[in-house]
Amino acid sequence: MRITFRLIISLAVVVASVALGSSFIQVRLERAKQQEELERRSRLLAESLQETIEPLLAKGTSKQLTRLVERFGNRERLAGAAVFDAEGKALAITASLSGLVPTAPKLAEEALKQGKDASRFDRVGGHRLHLYVLPLSVESRTAGTLVLFHEAAYIDELLSAIWRRTFGRVLVQVILIALVTLLVVRWSLVGPIAQMAEWMKLLRAGEAPNSAGIPRGDIFAPIAKEVTTFAKHLSVAKTAAEEEARLRQASESLWTPDRLKEHVRAKLQGKPLVIISNREPYMHRYKGREAQVIVPAGGVVTALDPLMRACGGLWIAHGAGDADWDNVDGHSRVRVPPEDPRYTLRRVALTKEEEEGYYYGFANEGLWPLCHIAHVRPEFRPEDWAHYQRANQKFADAALEELQGIDSPCLLVQDYHFALLPRMIKEKRPDARIVLFWHIPWPNPEAFGICPWQRELLYGMLGADLVGFHTQYHCNNFLETVDRTLECRIDRERFSVIKEGHLTSVKPFPISVSFPEPAAKAPDTDKERAAILKGLRVKAEFLGVGVERIDYTKGLLERFRAIERFLDKYPRYKGRFTFVQIGAPSRTHIKRYHDFLAEVEAEGERINWKFKANDWRPIVFLSEHHDHDEIAPYYRTAELCMVTSLSDGMNLVGKEFIAAREDLGGALILSQFAGASRELRDALIVNPYDIDRMADAILYALEMGTDERKARMQRLRETVRENNVYRWAGTLITELTQIRFEDLPAGTLA
Ligand code: F6P
Repeated sequence: MRITFRLIISLAVVVASVALGSSFIQVRLERAKQQEELERRSRLLAESLQETIEPLLAKGTSKQLTRLVERFGNRERLAGAAVFDAEGKALAITASLSGLVPTAPKLAEEALKQGKDASRFDRVGGHRLHLYVLPLSVESRTAGTLVLFHEAAYIDELLSAIWRRTFGRVLVQVILIALVTLLVVRWSLVGPIAQMAEWMKLLRAGEAPNSAGIPRGDIFAPIAKEVTTFAKHLSVAKTAAEEEARLRQASESLWTPDRLKEHVRAKLQGKPLVIISNREPYMHRYKGREAQVIVPAGGVVTALDPLMRACGGLWIAHGAGDADWDNVDGHSRVRVPPEDPRYTLRRVALTKEEEEGYYYGFANEGLWPLCHIAHVRPEFRPEDWAHYQRANQKFADAALEELQGIDSPCLLVQDYHFALLPRMIKEKRPDARIVLFWHIPWPNPEAFGICPWQRELLYGMLGADLVGFHTQYHCNNFLETVDRTLECRIDRERFSVIKEGHLTSVKPFPISVSFPEPAAKAPDTDKERAAILKGLRVKAEFLGVGVERIDYTKGLLERFRAIERFLDKYPRYKGRFTFVQIGAPSRTHIKRYHDFLAEVEAEGERINWKFKANDWRPIVFLSEHHDHDEIAPYYRTAELCMVTSLSDGMNLVGKEFIAAREDLGGALILSQFAGASRELRDALIVNPYDIDRMADAILYALEMGTDERKARMQRLRETVRENNVYRWAGTLITELTQIRFEDLPAGTLA
């Protein structure tokens, strides 16, 4: 505003100065012109009177002189006339002046002295008059003067009028200049500058303003050009910075196969990663005379195969397939995956008795129900225990053989099949860094206490440097169990156990899936759904899916009963909702599993019979092995997925379902007793023992609004993507390699 004011003042001063200057000159010229004109007229009049007055003067007839003077004294703008003798005495004078000019004015004296006419403005009786004096002579002798008095006030008025006009004009011009300046400044400067400021503000705020918003007038053309270029550079720099931050953030937060590979290489200093599990990731089986490769169902394989594919290394597992031993080299090794070998599978052979006692007996009839607390009585038989010990030793021997020549190797021992193995390895290879990851729950000390060999199991486990569980709750239970069972020192601050001078850390590491990036071409889910329904020979508007090993811990009966209750409670879904249960038969040599499979089948049939219809069934039970590619279309097209475990370490089915839902569709119903429920807060969390509430959860999942469904799935996907299996492995390995063997607190038991 101050600039506008200055501009207006400057312009006004210039305009006023020019106007006043020109008026001043005009006034001077006008004054001179009027004066000249007055003199000319006075001279003409005086000369015309001279011819008449001089004879009268010669005659000395003052009366006639007076009449003459009176007559001419009334002329326009002539204030009067007077005739004086040479001594200045008035001979005749206009009556109105007689009192005011008693003697000849000084000018008359001067004119007489110089002998020529003279003129000047003078004050007479308070009036400004123009005096013109003409010397008179009689017979060539100076006889007096004729003085003409003209009014001069009209000249002043004329000049004042000129000044008045000038001032008026200047005032109008200044007002106009002020207005025009204000408008011009507003339209051409303030407006565009404010517009540009707003534009830059938006740019600064990162709102990507439209470049059409930049003023482009004449004077702004160069600035607009520079600002546009600057904005472009800023935008590029901002995008680059954002991208860099995103990448930095992503690389910090997102674990990828490549990142894990590098991480493992750095942490293990080039040494191979060695995994030991009972279940092998690839199993050769005969179908007729042809050997087929299948990927067994189960969380360990689902989780660990992607990371072994990424990092390479060695996986030691039981060769349980009937064609396995026809597909290994002389060292019981085979490169896998068969279609694109990335790592080595070392198979361990077990006799039928060993498998019976160790795997079916002690591990799955003893430890499995012991840890899951799923109302199945654990069986602990001494002969199974003996096989368990022998089998553990067999795997330990195989591992020790493979570890020869590797300095400070890193071993990832998986699950409840190998509680004794860490100690067996550690005794032979104290330099080995060993993790024992327990994939199933750990019960409270009282529950675990019924195992006759609890001390041996715990002692064996504490040979590991790190014992991992999926949840903190299971870590707490484990530490409590150790505390109650063994003589050792518990360091609750560092969550570790010190036994015989060896420290074992106990930590939660929630396992996950690989969460693959979206496929370049999204699958046609409508087609997939149509194919599924056609294959199942059912007509249904809504699909639900469940994928499990057939295991009594998975809550399959409760799930089926919830579906029955749902249809009873909400009959409008009869003929419209079908639940597909994919179930891989598992551990069927165990009577409880064998019976359970039959129970599940019977329950499914009972419910289907109850709701019998021509081309619709509420439950489709597919009790056979399905590989991942066969399961994926169900995940992608189902409206809901049910995970209703009565007890579960983690459960990866829910996470696989989430990873498959690139479309943000589908809802997950998840048991509160699965470890996954700690992380997957946007699932519909249920108590599988509460059938009625589960039925309501099915309704909620089907009738949930699209926005809520998408928002929940979006958050679930972020959680699983962020906490993928590569992060699990990365943090596990970091933790393992950070353990310092010499780092024991003072006073530790030796
Ligand atoms: O999740 C527990 C677990 O024992 C895993 O170790 C394994 O992946 C899965 O169950 C399958 O069990 P099995 O190997 O006995 O078929």
